[in-house]
Amino acid sequence: MLKIQNVSKVYRVGGQDFIALHNINLEIEDGAFMSFVGPSGSGKTTLLNLIGGLDSPTSGEVVFNGFHLNEMSRDQLAVLRRENIGFIFQSYNLLPVYSVYENILFPLLLNKQKESQVRDKVMALVEKVGLSAEANKKPAELSGGQCQRVAIARALVKDPLLVLADEPTANLDVENSHHILEMMRTLNQETQAAFIFSTHDEKVTRFVNREVALEDGYVKSDKVKQPNGELI
Ligand SMILES: Nc1ncnc2c1ncn2[C@@H]1O[C@H](COP(=O)(O)OP(=O)(O)OP(=O)(O)O)[C@@H](O)[C@H]1O
Ligand SMILES: [Mg+2]
Repeated sequence: MLKIQNVSKVYRVGGQDFIALHNINLEIEDGAFMSFVGPSGSGKTTLLNLIGGLDSPTSGEVVFNGFHLNEMSRDQLAVLRRENIGFIFQSYNLLPVYSVYENILFPLLLNKQKESQVRDKVMALVEKVGLSAEANKKPAELSGGQCQRVAIARALVKDPLLVLADEPTANLDVENSHHILEMMRTLNQETQAAFIFSTHDEKVTRFVNREVALEDGYVKSDKVKQPNGELI
């Protein structure tokens, strides 16, 4: 589904080049459930942004579902993202004036679907993330864990091939983190959407099927879950 080929990212900072990613090569299969781990500054967010077509590599290329992102225009990338990729941000990025229901509905309206035709689908997702009682509340009336669940539902509502989540549990306590991770894993199994998230959070390790560790912009290790549950 995703090929990352010889990808480097160089930022120009104060007249000097800073290499945030060095020649990364990764293949990620359909339906993956995996994380990028590594210390602050190791390149996790940079790599997620390149995969999601939010930013472009300095060299190398990202191929998503047969599309060579380098060869696409800004508008084409925007359509590709809108139709195929769900984003979950650490800070949720919910629309404050809209209710839970409306926030989850919003990506479908952007994809030119009619509310009357998707209302049941949106409500089913509201229920699936456990927010039926909160459907008419605004983000300011929700807890952090509830906001994160809205963000997950919003990312999934368009049946994306890929969900990218940058530190999805960073603002949550242990109990809520577990709940969110379990929910994402269940949704991954039910919907076959691939999930890739970045995290500092050690707890995430036991939920994923693959863990790619980054350090100073290099891939330091790439571990896959074994039948005994160990990542090797
Ligand atoms: N727009 C930018 N301009 C210049 N340097 C940048 C830019 N974005 C990121 N960097 C640098 O690239 C490196 C990788 O940053 P990135 O945000 O990908 O790290 P990260 O692994 O996500 O860290 P964190 O865990 O703190 O979120 C850092 O050293 C950062 O300072
Ligand atoms: Mg980051």
